[in-house]
Amino acid sequence: MTKIRVGVVGCGAIGSEICKAIDGYGDADLGMELKFLIDSHPERIEKLHKSLIKKPAIIKSDSMMLDEILTEVDLLVECASQAAVREFAIPALKRGKDVMILSVGALLCEDGLFEEIERISKEKGCKVYIPSGAVAGIDGLKSGAIGGIRSVLLTTIKPPSGFEGNAYVKEKGIDLFSIEKEETLFTGSAKEAVRYFPENVNVAASLSLAGIGPEATRVKIVADPSAVENVHEIEARGEFGKLFVRVENVPSRANPKTSYLAALSAIATLKSISYPIRVGT
Ligand SMILES: NC(=O)c1ccc[n+]([C@@H]2O[C@H](COP(=O)([O-])OP(=O)(O)OC[C@H]3O[C@@H](n4cnc5c(N)ncnc54)[C@H](O)[C@@H]3O)[C@@H](O)[C@H]2O)c1
Repeated sequence: MTKIRVGVVGCGAIGSEICKAIDGYGDADLGMELKFLIDSHPERIEKLHKSLIKKPAIIKSDSMMLDEILTEVDLLVECASQAAVREFAIPALKRGKDVMILSVGALLCEDGLFEEIERISKEKGCKVYIPSGAVAGIDGLKSGAIGGIRSVLLTTIKPPSGFEGNAYVKEKGIDLFSIEKEETLFTGSAKEAVRYFPENVNVAASLSLAGIGPEATRVKIVADPSAVENVHEIEARGEFGKLFVRVENVPSRANPKTSYLAALSAIATLKSISYPIRVGT
């Protein structure tokens, strides 16, 4: 079977797990071949490159000559930063390549970017894959949206230290270290939440895109001194009934800001691209 040729932008926590899975560690056989690695930190590329058995021939630290190396791949995986979505995903789509986007928050934060991506992918007949990331329940939300969803509420619960340095918390004069029991720091729309709590941006974006959009999706942010993990609870109501999902996320060892589940969801998406039978919506 012909292997799907892949280029990866971002050799951090998620990119490293993805590349190792493509390389075939454990029992993984994704039916893919790694053609290039890009990262603005050359030492990150080097570390990852060394750890791979089948080493990609092309490594780069910027988007120069991107058009040339895009001819080598069928799929570009962005797992770098919001800025990288415009810098790499748009040119890849324009060259007719499929794209997987992990920095999904970019689609909520940059006005018009989602519509631009949608337009180019339709024109070029390309697919854009957005993994579920650090949340679960996206499948149910997508199905529910067909029949009509009335409300979606995302509640994020973290230990108070998880909000250290947050400008909104400072502005509100909240003393994180005097919090003794669960305290709600914010309630509002997903659109507002990503402005005040950029740490929540990817989760809010995935839910908004799958459900009822960034204005109607509600977000509640809670600091809980008894919390150990970063918890996301999703509650949705619609014609289908009610959905409630709670994920207690283990942080990635390489980047504690990223949940391990986010890297796994990217690998699962790659698996679903190359495997003929698709389970789940
Ligand atoms: N969808 C989700 O639920 C979800 C969950 C966690 C993280 N993320 C997002 O996925 C992305 C990757 O996360 P991570 O934990 O692997 O991050 P990371 O910081 O561990 O790694 C990112 C890597 O990308 C590189 N990079 C950043 N911008 C670049 C650019 N413009 N050009 C080239 N290289 C660039 C950095 O040097 C770094 O090595 C982030 O944007 C993060 O917000 C999404």
